[in-house]
Order: sequence, then C-alpha cells, then structure tokens
Amino acid sequence: MSQSPRVPAHQVTTRNLGAAYPFIAEVGLGQRGVVIGDDLLGGSFVFDPFELYAQGVVSNPNMVVFGQIGRGKSAFVKTFLWRQAVFGRRAWVVDPKGEYGDLAAAWGVRPVALRPGGSIRLNPLDAGPDLVGEDGPGSTARRQMELLSSLACACLGRNLLPRERAALGLALAAATSRTKSPTVPAVVDALLTPTVEAAGSLRTGLHDLLEDGRDVALELRRLVHGDLRGMFDGPTTPGLDLSAPLVVLDLSALYTSTALGVLMACATAWLHAALSRNASIPGPGGQVFLVVDEAWAILSNLGVARWLQSSWKLSRALGVSNVAVLHRVSDLHSVGASDSEQVALAQGLLADSETRVVYAQSAGELTVASDLLSLSATEAELLPQLRRGVALWKVGQASFLVQHRLSQMERVLVNTDAAMGTR
Ligand SMILES: Nc1ncnc2c1ncn2[C@@H]1O[C@H](COP(=O)(O)OP(=O)(O)OP(=O)(O)O)[C@@H](O)[C@H]1O
Ligand SMILES: [Mg+2]
Repeated sequence: MSQSPRVPAHQVTTRNLGAAYPFIAEVGLGQRGVVIGDDLLGGSFVFDPFELYAQGVVSNPNMVVFGQIGRGKSAFVKTFLWRQAVFGRRAWVVDPKGEYGDLAAAWGVRPVALRPGGSIRLNPLDAGPDLVGEDGPGSTARRQMELLSSLACACLGRNLLPRERAALGLALAAATSRTKSPTVPAVVDALLTPTVEAAGSLRTGLHDLLEDGRDVALELRRLVHGDLRGMFDGPTTPGLDLSAPLVVLDLSALYTSTALGVLMACATAWLHAALSRNASIPGPGGQVFLVVDEAWAILSNLGVARWLQSSWKLSRALGVSNVAVLHRVSDLHSVGASDSEQVALAQGLLADSETRVVYAQSAGELTVASDLLSLSATEAELLPQLRRGVALWKVGQASFLVQHRLSQMERVLVNTDAAMGTR
C-alpha cells in the first residue's frame, strides 16, 4: 500500500543496525494486518491490534501514540485508519485541531463540526444499553454519574466532597426518572430544585441539599448557559449518520478554550454511548477505532483523566480499539494529582494500552519515559534522535523500530504543514 522510499531508510546496513540496536531482536508480529512501513531491522512492519488481541499477544487492542510536535503522530493514525478500512473496520475520531477533514473527504463523509451556539448538539448523557454480565445492571447510570462527577471535578479544579457527590447522584436519578436519556440542563435543574423526597433520603433538609449541590450546579451550568452552551446541553441532534465508515467530531472551534479537555470528554462520552448501542453489529464491521487526537487535553485534567481510564476498561467488551495521541510520556501525569495518584493513573492507562508507539521525545522526558514504558538503556538513548516518521513500537513485550511509509495519495491526506505554507 505504501510506496517504496526514495531515500535510504537508515544510514547503516541491516546487519550493522542489528548490532547497533540489539534490543530489536524481534521477528515481527506476523503478516496479518496492514503494512505500517519498514521494520528498520529489515522487512515490512505489519500490525493489527484486534488480531494480536485475538492471538493473546496483547491483553487489549488499545494504543497510545507519543511524540514531539510534527513528528508524524497524526499522519500515522490517519493512514492507519485509512488502511484498516480494507478490513471493513470503522473509525470514530475526536479531532480538536480540525485536521481530519481531508481524510473524511476521501471517505466521502463530512466531519460533525461542534461550536458554541452551533446547529449540532450531542448529549453526553445519552443512554446505551446496560452492559451484559455481573456488572451489567445499572451500568448506564454508573457511567453517567462517573462522567458528571468527572466534569464537575474538572470544572471545580478539585475532587468532589461526599455531600456534593450525593447531591449530584440524587439529581441524576431525578432527571432520569423523567426521561431515559437525561440531559445536563435537566441535572443542573434537579440540583437547583431538589425534592423533599431526595432530601429525606439523605436525612437532610431541602435547603441543605440545595447548598450541597450548588457549586456543582453552577460549574455544570457553564455547559448550559455559559460560554460553552449549545453543544452538549440538550438531546442529540437527530439524523447524524453513525453508519459511515468514518465519523469525525471536529472541535477545532474550541481548540483554544480552557475547557477543551472537558469538551473532549463530553464528545468521547457521547461516542462511547453511541458505540455501546452499535455493539451488536456482527463481524469485523463491528470493530471500531476510537481515536482521541491531542488527548493530553483530557489527561491534563485529573477528573476527566480518571473517567477516560474507566471508559477504556469498559470498551474492551465493545470491540473497540482506543487510540490516544499525546505529546510527551509525562502527559500521562495529570495536573493536580498527588504523586502516587499520578503514577497510578499513568500506569493504569498504560496497562490498558499495550501498544505504545513512541516518536521522538526530548532528553528531558527520558527518565519518565524509561520508567513508565520500561525502556532499555539503548531504547532510551535512541528516543531523542528519532527523525520524523520513525517510532519505537512497544507491542506487549516486543520492541520494533519502524519507519512509517506514506503513499503519494496519503501524503495529501496527512499534510498538516499546509497551514505553515509549505504545501
Ligand atoms: N512518515 C512520514 N513521512 C513523510 N512525511 C511525514 C510522515 N509523517 C508525517 N509527515 C509529515 O509531517 C508533517 C507533520 O505530521 P503530523 O501532523 O502527523 O505531526 P504530529 O506529530 O501529529 O504533530 P502535532 O503534535 O503538531 O499534532 C505532516 O505535514 C506530514 O505530511
Ligand atoms: Mg497531530
């Protein structure tokens, strides 16, 4: 699929490369999947997370892509999705920079553009069916509660107090009793007008319950009446085509917003609920890539980072491969978390994403990267020197050095230098 290179892939022969980088002693991941490019030890590098998951090589099909600005992270993701379409796999993308438009056009679809006061609304509290199994009953309500408390926690910049959580839970229950898919405004309303029954269930007074939930209500209100209104504050706009091979949520109108992480979490939550409703599609057509580009914005926020981690766990049952794109390995450390909490979150997310694609990292990142990704000394030394398009792939226990190759046609689809005037 990719074209042969016009420049040598590396300055040394394969034999010398093997000696220079002895850590790359792997024999490849098999031939089932799409060609990513050249294994710099020789041969093509072929990869398929669902196949590797089925074979037990990895314990989940999720991926994290790290890399400094302009190293080719998004280019890799775009071509990967494009090549995976051969297998009938679909892709849903949260696109904070509005750069997946060309890819969508190649697929004949239009991105769903979200902007304050725009014409499209997505309800992040849309209900999917409850999960099957032991944890199934009540799982939709739990997911909604987790999202709301994460959003509130992110907006408040601190963890919720027990009484705030309780008030929020009661408000969600009140809003749900009125409709199957509650909305954020309905929850805010219920927080600001608690019922005698709700107060009675906590053995507290009406006024006290109102006070307990007031700060949470005022913060969530920003999504409803404030600068962020008109995107996630009502029932989902009917008629959105989710059967398309590619669904792109374009959030570029919000890229500079301080609430970008919160808004990306809302968009991702909506996609997750929609996916759980679509999970019954049989065969490979039911397998979906859910990409969050620029995912550092979600992870920089402790509340929504926690939510993202729990939603990754749930998605395994749905035939979803989550793909998160980050700049630095230390992006996994959420601002505001205690040291131990940071480490736990980062380790949790990495445990849930056994494929790590690492483009160049600065020398300052090496300690964290070595620690979290269990890099050998040679691998760590190599990271700052990787040129555009070359990444260290850590797949389960195996390591590869891979040059991502682009076809002429793909080159056009992935060109983000256009905005810099070099197209
Ligand atoms: N494998 C490759 N071979 C040749 N050119 C590439 C390759 N990968 C990316 N490029 C080019 O490099 C530019 C930057 O790529 P890309 O947008 O993917 O970087 P990025 O890592 O996602 O950057 P950012 O952190 O800013 O989002 C693009 O214009 C693309 O055409
Ligand atoms: Mg990018």
